[in-house]
Amino acid sequence: MPFPPGRDRRPDDSVSLAQYRRRAARYDLELMPFEPMRREAIALLDVPAGGTVFDIGCGTGLSFEPLLRRLAPHGRVVGVDPSPEMLALARERARRQGWQGVELLQAAAASALLPQGADAALFHFTHDVLRDAAALDHVLAHLRPGAHVVACGLQWAPFWLLPANLFVLGAALYSVSSLAGLEQPWTLLAKRLQSFEVRPMFWPGIYLAQGRVG
Ligand SMILES: C[S@@+](CC[C@H](N)C(=O)[O-])C[C@H]1O[C@@H](n2cnc3c(N)ncnc32)[C@H](O)[C@@H]1O
Repeated sequence: MPFPPGRDRRPDDSVSLAQYRRRAARYDLELMPFEPMRREAIALLDVPAGGTVFDIGCGTGLSFEPLLRRLAPHGRVVGVDPSPEMLALARERARRQGWQGVELLQAAAASALLPQGADAALFHFTHDVLRDAAALDHVLAHLRPGAHVVACGLQWAPFWLLPANLFVLGAALYSVSSLAGLEQPWTLLAKRLQSFEVRPMFWPGIYLAQGRVG
């Protein structure tokens, strides 16, 4: 582990709200380099046509289009995010595109009024949520047995890959409320899912993980 992990604790929602209040307007531009990872994560997601997917920490809704394509012709994406600024952009994206299958909940993952029995959940670059046990328990309790869960995001690269770790550090300081858990961001998820695996990615400093609700 190349950097001190800090004390693992429940992520601070007020830090996150302030971060995304500042970032919302330029967020889509900043995320462009990460789009190949998004495509890979969503391609991995096992979703039935016409099913329901939770996009937890959906931000401005960059995952909606590829998710709706996976669910075609009539699936439903439930986007959850506590940031009013990020969610306003997500809402505007859905309105502009005329997507009927997008529902948005402005809430932290731990307290969102989720529908019951969804088929899958995506956690794309949502480190704070993945380090929040209560949030994971709440989301997973609203998935059906066997539902597929995919998570993708930042993690420390091996210590000798200094440029990759400088990149992770810069991105994390800018987008998460604590660096704690970045060595293995998926550990809380791994305890709660079956057939859990972390897949090697082409990009150092990025992980892709998947598992199923028991
Ligand atoms: C790096 S952005 C990722 C957005 C989107 N998933 C994407 O891939 O473009 C992290 C998002 O997580 C949201 N977030 C932070 N804390 C959260 C929480 N407790 N519950 C749900 N979302 C949260 C932030 O508001 C922000 O929109």
